Amino acid sequence: MKIHSDVLIIGGGAIGLATALELALRGVSVTVLSRNFPEAALHAAAGMLAPQAEGLLPGPMLALCLRSRSLYPEWVSKLESLTGIDPEYWPCGIIAPLYGEAKRFRSAEDEYWCDRPSLTALQPDLGREITGGWWFPEDGQINNQSMAKALRVAVEQLGVTIHDDVTVNHIAHQGDQITEVQTADETYQADCYLLATGAWTGELLTVPVVPRKGQMLSLQAKTGEQQLRHVLFGNGTYLVPRRNGRVVIGATSEDVGFTPHNTSAGIQQLLTESHRLYPPLQDWIFERSWWGFRPATPDELPILGTSPYKNLVLATGHYRNGILLTPITAVLLAELICNQVTDPLLKAFRYDRF
Ligand code: GLY
Repeated sequence: MKIHSDVLIIGGGAIGLATALELALRGVSVTVLSRNFPEAALHAAAGMLAPQAEGLLPGPMLALCLRSRSLYPEWVSKLESLTGIDPEYWPCGIIAPLYGEAKRFRSAEDEYWCDRPSLTALQPDLGREITGGWWFPEDGQINNQSMAKALRVAVEQLGVTIHDDVTVNHIAHQGDQITEVQTADETYQADCYLLATGAWTGELLTVPVVPRKGQMLSLQAKTGEQQLRHVLFGNGTYLVPRRNGRVVIGATSEDVGFTPHNTSAGIQQLLTESHRLYPPLQDWIFERSWWGFRPATPDELPILGTSPYKNLVLATGHYRNGILLTPITAVLLAELICNQVTDPLLKAFRYDRF
């Protein structure tokens, strides 16, 4: 028997679930196929909401990221009121420190520049080599693990069907129409299909999305220890403090395919740079380490919207900004799927730009 829904979403990570939520709120029947929920980049992330700290150049990507950041307060309230789960959204601000006499590479952001005394007033005990930095008060974070729980509960409450541990073997098409999606046990059909499979997208469709591995770790402050008040965004390493005294530290960026595991070099890089940023971490308790795979495209921009098939929509390649871009991706794609409205911003993220 073929299973039918209005929309079939392939991919049960942040983007798939958040789009399922927006669609369900618009009265659409949605099925989500999730191959391996714990493996989604949603779990590996630190949850930074950092359009400014990431140093994105002015253009459509920065515009998309800023729009998504502005949606966060309302989107999180919606999630919380639907589920009773607090996703721990915290607009705590992000400090991007500068070491020594290094060049001021963010010249477009001079209004955010702080000298060392101003920076240490914001965050005491910064590394000695830090001479100043940028303070982005509107950037922040969300606890991506709590967000994952809230998203799952929200969509299930709204009647979305989630099939876990289901691998799509084949997306069948006739001409420019997808006709069905096959797994080992079932065949699924829908009026519209959404592909949101992150780093694994290239296994199902010819699009230039490849994995970029990130290793991460977390530390726990000892009782009574001075806590970090803001995210610190250093050279290839960032510290994301949670309110419970934990700090999530990320992330390497490695072009090693889907090679699993943490490596000693990866962990050493993260620890060395994090001690340089914030020396008190040397006494914190090592908690755990993990890794994940960012979906990277050649220009490091996501692929959003239409595809070579009239009834297939794409939402992949979010690279370093998947958590940040979750609300805007979900809203724009729900509008595209339900009302055939193409937001002008989507033009920059078409699949056929490569
Ligand atoms: N968003 C930061 C990272 O991907 O490491």
